[in-house]
Amino acid sequence: MAQKFVSEGSVKIALSKKVFYNPKMEFSRDVNIACAASFSGVKRYADALAATGISGIRVAKEVGHGVTLNDWNKDAFKLIQKNTSLNGVDCEVNNENANAFLSRTKFDAVDIDPFGSPAPYLSAASHSAMKYLMVTATDTAPLCGAHSSGKRRYAAIPLNTEYHAEMGIRILLGKIARELVVHDKGFTPLLSLSREHFVRTWLKVARGARRADESISHLGYIIHCFSCGYRSYVEGLTVFVNERCPLCESEVQLAGPLYLGRLHDKKFCEQVMKETDRRGLRTKNDVMKTLNLCNEELDIPYHYDHHRICKRLKTSPCEIDLLIDRLKDEGFLASRTHFSGTSFKTNASVRQIENTVRSMG
Ligand SMILES: C[S@@+](CC[C@H](N)C(=O)[O-])C[C@H]1O[C@@H](n2cnc3c(N)ncnc32)[C@H](O)[C@@H]1O
Ligand SMILES: [Zn+2]
Repeated sequence: MAQKFVSEGSVKIALSKKVFYNPKMEFSRDVNIACAASFSGVKRYADALAATGISGIRVAKEVGHGVTLNDWNKDAFKLIQKNTSLNGVDCEVNNENANAFLSRTKFDAVDIDPFGSPAPYLSAASHSAMKYLMVTATDTAPLCGAHSSGKRRYAAIPLNTEYHAEMGIRILLGKIARELVVHDKGFTPLLSLSREHFVRTWLKVARGARRADESISHLGYIIHCFSCGYRSYVEGLTVFVNERCPLCESEVQLAGPLYLGRLHDKKFCEQVMKETDRRGLRTKNDVMKTLNLCNEELDIPYHYDHHRICKRLKTSPCEIDLLIDRLKDEGFLASRTHFSGTSFKTNASVRQIENTVRSMG
């Protein structure tokens, strides 16, 4: 049978029916190249669940980090060896369980891109990652509260709200924070994306008990009222919360523990945009648009959906930018988000938002 190949970035990759490859993840791999190029002081980079090797081989060739690729599947291992020589990159290739691999070696940067949940690899990855940690999750249903296995994977309760995509990222970040602190490490999220069926985060890892304590100080809970749409949050691992919604007196629900801090670092995002721009990546326009939205996002751990609010008020939605400008004119903070074209963040309460939306209907 004729060998199939695919070209992406500056690499050509041989494919095999027996080894995972998803062309739709080019966007994520392109962002990863721009991120990896924005890292500082990275000599040793691990692609711990590498499949065809496409992501790690791109990092080696397009960025120049010293990459080790690992996959426990024999067919993947052989294909990675083939693909490294095909692309003329000098990478170590390894054929182990990712947990064994990461437990015995430390890397400046560690990438975890498994099938489904990354939870089983987070302890070993937290041990191994010295400067940067990248984590993808494709188990969005459990992360976002649509499936009960979220409790087991993340030891946290998500809620299936209209901002479930953001909640998924925050549940994942909360879990990573709790894994890193065990190793006396903390993190700063550099960029955290939610798209279609995956979430991915790029984190700066910092060593030391103080940095670890700082990270867990951002853990807490989101308080949500399904009756009126009220939402708020409270920091801490043990918290006291009023059972009743302050707006409508219904019983509120809690989601967490989850990460309430910033999802992106502005300076890093700007650097990533520069790298994206100068590299001519195939998904460049999409990446730039997404990063611009991430950069705009307010530092508030949930968002609202314009269409959902209009539906409740039985009014038709105007342009979302008009709503955001109006909220700002009224003295509130407001921004779009990268989560969806109809979502926005604001410090206005749900009642205030409804008044504004009504006045524009
Ligand atoms: C989603 S794929 C990785 C995709 C790849 N990063 C890309 O961009 O195309 C996950 C890979 O993890 C491998 N894998 C699954 N469990 C593993 C484990 N415990 N240790 C090492 N590799 C594992 C699978 O063989 C598969 O190739
Ligand atoms: Zn309420």
